Amino acid sequence: MSDLIDDIIERHVNIDRDGLIPLLQEIQSSQGFLSEDAIIRIGASMDLPTSKIYGVATFYDQFRFEPKGKVHFQICHGTSCHINHSIRILQELERLLKIKPGQTTRDGMFSVDATSCMGACSLSSVIKVNDTYFHDVSPADLKEIIEKYKSNPLNA
Ligand code: FES
Repeated sequence: MSDLIDDIIERHVNIDRDGLIPLLQEIQSSQGFLSEDAIIRIGASMDLPTSKIYGVATFYDQFRFEPKGKVHFQICHGTSCHINHSIRILQELERLLKIKPGQTTRDGMFSVDATSCMGACSLSSVIKVNDTYFHDVSPADLKEIIEKYKSNPLNA
């Protein structure tokens, strides 16, 4: 994995702050998250303190710093889903799983992210669990969805 990070960093030589975002995106896409090791390597390659790299990355909610769980929830917070109470869905998920967006449960089973529009606004609120989309979701639906995936994380 480290070699892959080095390869990606080498393709982004002489970048400025604007170029940092695509670099972080590419590394996250290859690893599934931004590891501490990757952040340190990026800082070293740009001659910037690690805190600066974290400062930029944490500004954007697209970046996560922990590996995803076996069951990954994505909660749409686009306009249409927002109007249809996506915040309440996210709050209920946080309550049930005891994690915030960007975090993973200690057992590695569940993780949560808030995402931009998933392109199915007329079906809002929309959530995605691993590769499956759920529409017209309400907070009351979450317990059942979690239980279903808990017993069969990959093929619920
Ligand atoms: S706003 Fe949620 S799918 Fe478009």
